[in-house]
Parts: sequence; structure tokens; C-alpha cells
Amino acid sequence: MDLEQLNEIANQMVAHGKGILAADESTGTIKKRFDTIGLTSTEDSRRDWREMLFRTQPAMNEYISGVILYDETLRQKAADGTPLAKLISDAGAVPGIKVDLGAKDLAGAPGEKITEGLDGLRDRLNEYYELGARFAKWRAVIEMGRDGDDSIPSPYCVDVNMHALARYAALCQEAGIVPIVEPEVLMDGDHTIERCYEVTEYALKKLFDELYAQGVQLEGIILKPNMIIAGKKCPEQASVEDVADLTVQCLSNCVPSAVPGIAFLSGGQSDEEATAHLNAMNAAYDLPWALTFSYGRALQAAPLKAWNGKDAEAGQKAFNHRARMNGLASIGEWTPELEQQG
Ligand code: 13P
Repeated sequence: MDLEQLNEIANQMVAHGKGILAADESTGTIKKRFDTIGLTSTEDSRRDWREMLFRTQPAMNEYISGVILYDETLRQKAADGTPLAKLISDAGAVPGIKVDLGAKDLAGAPGEKITEGLDGLRDRLNEYYELGARFAKWRAVIEMGRDGDDSIPSPYCVDVNMHALARYAALCQEAGIVPIVEPEVLMDGDHTIERCYEVTEYALKKLFDELYAQGVQLEGIILKPNMIIAGKKCPEQASVEDVADLTVQCLSNCVPSAVPGIAFLSGGQSDEEATAHLNAMNAAYDLPWALTFSYGRALQAAPLKAWNGKDAEAGQKAFNHRARMNGLASIGEWTPELEQQG
């Protein structure tokens, strides 16, 4: 493992004023997204959508440090024959790859999930490196109990997921690939923000134990956590400041300063909430790690609607706006007024 090189890539992924575009929806998930605009999901329509995003300027050069791809996209070529991964690297961003094979039912734990994909991962990582990927992503999914049921998540579910994340991370580093380590505590449900804090703290403590036990070098990872936020159906929603304060408090308690950067998932927050929360943290705190975005929905929902399967100019305009807003939020310089200029 060349830790210096891993650290360099990790720092590039969280470069000042930039963040990550998570465009790694599986074929099933992208179909659901396309259904919202009445577009049939085919290899070509998925290519057209992603090519349009990766060619967007100035967004790609100025605000996007890396793009997470799905297996199909890493192998795909643009309409003019240029590999899509090359469009990304030509824009100065790092191509990355989702390598987990999805969250499946966890045996003996009804309602809970375990992420699969470790078998054969070493060989897949070596191939992805050859194809140009320099970082990877693995998402662990932590479900939350409903109606005050705090038996979910079970410690069993969190522990096995964090163990798997560390196994994945160790394999990535061996292959010269920076692992994005993503333990996602879901926003779905009616749980309080305090409950989110408690579960996220437990998961992060466990995660860093496992990373240490399995020899993962923290200088060569990026953490992709959820923010500390109430469940979508919780009647009591916290203010932007409370989300920012509790998220920083939780991360400060759990994440060693050797980690170069933290790039949040948006997890179902509205576009503007995801931006405002990130901005509030960066505006109010001086933190040991770069704090930025690795958004899927919060970067792509608006462009997808504007593109509507055909209008590249409108799609790129919307993507430029969201990328710029989040780039500004990553350095605490976003304002609601700038938001309205879109
Ligand atoms: P969202 O920002 O839509 O949550 O997606 C980010 C991601 O990569 C989830 O794994």
C-alpha cells in the first residue's frame, strides 16, 4: 500500500470548495429516478443523462472533485467514443466506483440489512483500477425502528455492517484505491434527532474500532456519514443550526483528525436543506477534517427534472447551480440569496 498516494487522492476528493457527485445509482435505482420524468431506462438513456452531467461546465471543473460511478458507467463511452471516466478526469475530477452489491436482508434480524459484495472484491478492485477508478464506495444501511422501537438497529446489525465496511476498506487500500466508507443511518421513519445521534455515534465508534483492528490507514479514507437529523416522519424537526451543531458534536466525538475528509450523503433531505446544513457547519466551525458533500439526489434531482430526457442546456444549467451552491456550502459561503439566483 502506498499511503502517501492514497492520502493525495483523498485530499483531492475533498479539495477546497469542491465535493463529490454520487452518480452511482444501480440499474434498478436509476429506473426509479427516470420513472419520475417518464423516461425509459436503457443503456443509451443512462449514458445520455450521465454524459450530459459530466460535460457540464463550469460545474465539473470548479465544484466537483470526484464522481462515483456504477459498474456499467465506468465501462461506457460517450456518444463520440470518449470513455465517460475520461470526461471526468479531463475535467480534473477523480473517477470512483461503487463496489458493494447492495443491502440484503440480514439473517436472524427481521427488518435489518447487511451489505454484500466482499467475495471476489480483490479481483474486482484490481480491474476497476485498470479502468481508471481511484476511489470506491461501499454503503452500509442502518434501519431505524418505528414508533419508539429502539430494538432496531440491533447491535448485531451495526457490528456486522461495520466489520464488512472495514474489510472492504482494507481491500481497497491494498489495491491503491481510496475507500469511501459509508455507514448510513437512514432518515426514513419517525425517530427523533436524539435517537439519530445515539445510533450514529454507536455506529461510528464501532466503525473506527473495526478500521483500527483491520489495519486500515485513516489518512487514506474518506468518511461518508449521514447528518444528525430527525426522521422524515418525526413531528419535531430541528432547525438548521441544531442539525449543524449536533452533527459536528457527534463527528468530533467519533472521527479521528487523521481522516482527511468527511463527505456527507444527502439521504432524502431537500436540495436546499442539504446545502444549508453543510453551509452552517462550515460557517460556524473550524474543523480538523474537510467537510463537504457527496450527494446523489440533492445534486441530481433538479437537473433531472430540467433535462426531462432531452433538454441538455436546461439540465446543465440546473446542475451548474446545485454544484455551485454546494461548493459554496463546503466553505461556508452559501446564502439563501445566492440560492434564489438559480
Ligand atoms: P444521496 O445523496 O441521494 O443520499 O446519495 C448518496 C449516496 O451515494 C448514497 O449511497
